[in-house]
Amino acid sequence: MSEDFLPIKGTDHIEFYVGNAKQAAHFYRTGFGFTLVAYSGLETGNRETATYVLEQGSIRLLLTTALGPDHHVARHAHLHGDGVGVIAMEVPDATKSYFESTHRGATGAIQPTEESDENGTYRYSAIRCYGDTLIKFVDRSDYNGPFAPGFEARNNGTGMNGNARDRYKGFGLMHVDHIVGNVELGAMNRWVDFFAQTMGFSQLLHFDDKDISTEYSALMSKVMQNGNGKIKFPINEPAEGKRKSQIQEYLDFYMGPGAQHLACSTSDIVATVTQLRDSGIEFLRVPQTYYDMLEERVGKINEPIDVLADLGILVDRDEEGYLLQIFSKPVEDRPTVFYEIIERHGSRGFGKGNFQALFESLEREQALRGNL
Ligand code: FE2
Repeated sequence: MSEDFLPIKGTDHIEFYVGNAKQAAHFYRTGFGFTLVAYSGLETGNRETATYVLEQGSIRLLLTTALGPDHHVARHAHLHGDGVGVIAMEVPDATKSYFESTHRGATGAIQPTEESDENGTYRYSAIRCYGDTLIKFVDRSDYNGPFAPGFEARNNGTGMNGNARDRYKGFGLMHVDHIVGNVELGAMNRWVDFFAQTMGFSQLLHFDDKDISTEYSALMSKVMQNGNGKIKFPINEPAEGKRKSQIQEYLDFYMGPGAQHLACSTSDIVATVTQLRDSGIEFLRVPQTYYDMLEERVGKINEPIDVLADLGILVDRDEEGYLLQIFSKPVEDRPTVFYEIIERHGSRGFGKGNFQALFESLEREQALRGNL
């Protein structure tokens, strides 16, 4: 096996560009159990944007809003609605990551940059990904402050290193399992090639459209992962159906390609989803008949089926084990970005066996929105 030319330690953060970061931060804190650990805004001398840094387990979300109409974050939020502007990965060398990927054909977005303060030096760069999404390379190995220069700690956030994160267990979300992108019809393979060529990712699985289509809507999906398997990027494109694909609905309302869902892992999905539900997070529901046939389909599992049915948690099994998963409804008014909560018991899949049941659920929601 050839050497990984783009080593990645893991997901550093996901940055959302939103219309009102203060209110979004409240939603993620009360609804999803995140903790505010750092902030940048007018009070810290930032005249351009306000950014809230939230953590739970090793998941770090940034919520950024522009303080005026001409900032690129304002234009992003105006065009796309609230959505993912940046997918940031922690790397050992942000400069090398930039040149390795751009020399292989990636389009540069932010040249290698370093910022220093009394806490050290924070280095980053970025390349363009699907739509207006950036992939950022972050090297924080010489930085020990609250998130990055220009940020102040909140709630005694002591920075991102060491065991500080262990304090922020929240609702039990642990790490980013995968980040799914939706691209235009016919563009999936181009993005598969992009991740393979410019970042050295390889393809993990392949669903063809026969596996995951209903009478009315369909998608094609391929999963790309990096060398150490920590980063997984499934890429969806709409497939032809009798009626509008859920992927096309996203593209129509996001006004182009972008991140569709963020999957967060938990080691106790029943406890996590119970807390999320009790905090007002809404999930897609499948009919009770799904659970009547469940044991026949997936065999014995540790969790009581009546509890899974009450919460709407789905189960799938493959040769390696099983997984439990559930999908939220979109977390903004446009039918765009949503969340998946996932607990893996050996399976490294993505819930292929649930796609049929889910599509039927999604189509009920789509029909209610008049978009089917
Ligand atoms: Fe997923």
